[in-house]
Amino acid sequence: MALRKILIHPDPRLKKTTDPIVSVDDNLRRLADDMLETMYDAPGIGLAAPQVAVMRRMIVLDCEKEEDANPNPMVLINPEVVWTSEERNVYEEGCLSIPEQYAEVERPAEVEVQWLALDGKTMRERFDGLWATCVQHEIDHLDGKLFIDYLKPLKRQMITRKMQKLKREMARS
Ligand code: NI
Repeated sequence: MALRKILIHPDPRLKKTTDPIVSVDDNLRRLADDMLETMYDAPGIGLAAPQVAVMRRMIVLDCEKEEDANPNPMVLINPEVVWTSEERNVYEEGCLSIPEQYAEVERPAEVEVQWLALDGKTMRERFDGLWATCVQHEIDHLDGKLFIDYLKPLKRQMITRKMQKLKREMARS
């Protein structure tokens, strides 16, 4: 397993729609392992393939927040939201591609998602609470959408300017 470099916003690759995955092979399994390792190392609770510059439809999640909870890593290939609740929920979101910036985003409180597992099986599951927010946030990444796209333009521009400054500082050091 290896850590992958996480792209930082603004980056054109974070704004692109990604391609569906047609077959599960060793390369893809390696990518899933690397993405989980990169996510846990960050640390974060979700990561989408385009965030590590792979323009494919795959996300990884582990939203177990309790210190003593067992890890619950999930790998979702070609995930699709097939149902959303009318009830909505507000969570303060962040993103590994937009470090140290947080903002409240409103989304459906529950979603049903269909995806392909690494063993090739089609899965369908309902997500609620933090898991619902996280899975929607990560699926958005596959369509080039970031959580700041839900914010008012002024707030979004403010965060983007901070990230441009951060990237300049990172490039210098
Ligand atoms: Ni994100």
